[in-house]
Amino acid sequence: MLDVFIEFINPTEEVSMYEKSIKPLNQAVAEELSGIHQYMYFHFHCDDQGFDLLANLFKKTAIEEMIHIERLAERILFLKGDVEMQASTKAEKIHNVKDMLIAAKSMEEDSIKLYNELSIECGTTNADSVSRKLLEELVMDEERHFGQFDTEWQNLNTFGDQYLALQSIERSKMLSAQTGGNLTTPL
Ligand SMILES: [Fe+2]
Ligand SMILES: [Fe+2]
Repeated sequence: MLDVFIEFINPTEEVSMYEKSIKPLNQAVAEELSGIHQYMYFHFHCDDQGFDLLANLFKKTAIEEMIHIERLAERILFLKGDVEMQASTKAEKIHNVKDMLIAAKSMEEDSIKLYNELSIECGTTNADSVSRKLLEELVMDEERHFGQFDTEWQNLNTFGDQYLALQSIERSKMLSAQTGGNLTTPL
């Protein structure tokens, strides 16, 4: 009797199909946050070791993942949810460049698999075609990221240490040119 009365004064609100998309969209936010943390960690260490090409690639990719979060957040807020800023995993302390690229490829593969599954959940189960389309577009970007990391991984395998040495030499040449340019007394 009491249950019936409580239900009368506070009826259980039906969760709309679109609202159900908030959870999978936040799952994608968590995945993106993990990517940003890991790629910026890789960026710091590549930059510290003088590997500019890879340092820039990791930074550029982290920025793209941030834009993904922005797009997901806009959709979540439109659906009257809130954005859960919790990364799905902690950044791993990997310092070896080859291991960084293997980890980055694996992360992109995981994102591709997850977003494909979430897009089906949003589109088929929740009948939310806009969230589905957003996740499908993210899959396209993650496939491109995978391709970029795979290319660098193949270059490293093909050229070995020369691939990294070349990046260090380019850094030295650039710094040397800057130093010369800043001298008040020309050499
Ligand atoms: Fe992403
Ligand atoms: Fe990515």
